[in-house]
Amino acid sequence: NAPVITIDGPSGSGKGTVAGLLAKQLGWNLLDSGALYRLLAFCARNHGVDLSNEASLKLLAAHLDVQFLAAADGKPQRIILEGEEVTDAIRNETVGAGASQVAALPAVRDALLQRQRAFREAPGLIADGRDMGTVVFEDAPLKVFLTASAEERANRRYLQLKAKGDDVNLASLLDEIRARDERDTQRAVAPLKPAADAIQLDSTQLSIEQVLERILSEVAN
Ligand code: CDP
Repeated sequence: NAPVITIDGPSGSGKGTVAGLLAKQLGWNLLDSGALYRLLAFCARNHGVDLSNEASLKLLAAHLDVQFLAAADGKPQRIILEGEEVTDAIRNETVGAGASQVAALPAVRDALLQRQRAFREAPGLIADGRDMGTVVFEDAPLKVFLTASAEERANRRYLQLKAKGDDVNLASLLDEIRARDERDTQRAVAPLKPAADAIQLDSTQLSIEQVLERILSEVAN
């Protein structure tokens, strides 16, 4: 079994960025599990499937036609859904909220489980999500739980979306982040929580470089 580093945490904690940089630095594979839930929500909308229709979503999840193209030239990995690039299209709060809705359905999580485990290939995997350390890769040798205050996370998301040219509002982003935290931590299946053996890192006062350094020092041990 190839080694896995799991990085779990709430929205905007910096997991995505940290996971991408770690994968690059170590030359390991990357699983952005949140993208799978986003893709499912996006795909459901495209096909007119209601986000509460568990049976149809389960089928859609099992047959999701998606390709992840490795990051290159300092750009993040590209995501192709049914032959079309959706890398940017799935990164907005509407899709994020839809993702958190479909992610609460047990049949959906189950349908995506094997697909996620298939990313575990040599030389190793960085797995980014909510339940990487608690469910999907329970046996991972290194687990990180990354958090930051809701205000700081909303602010980071604000800057990220603004840089992309999106029309965003800080107060509503904070509301959305809080609503998503609530749904992700309160749901019955695979709720967001640190694995018992996870290292907890609060990044409110830390730069991405500092978080990266901290995790790499654990890898070295
Ligand atoms: O980028 P951000 O952290 O806001 O979201 P994401 O990682 O793309 O995940 C979107 C949503 O998918 C989350 O709010 C979770 O509800 C869900 N998710 C999950 O349930 N389990 C995972 N392993 C990853 C994401």
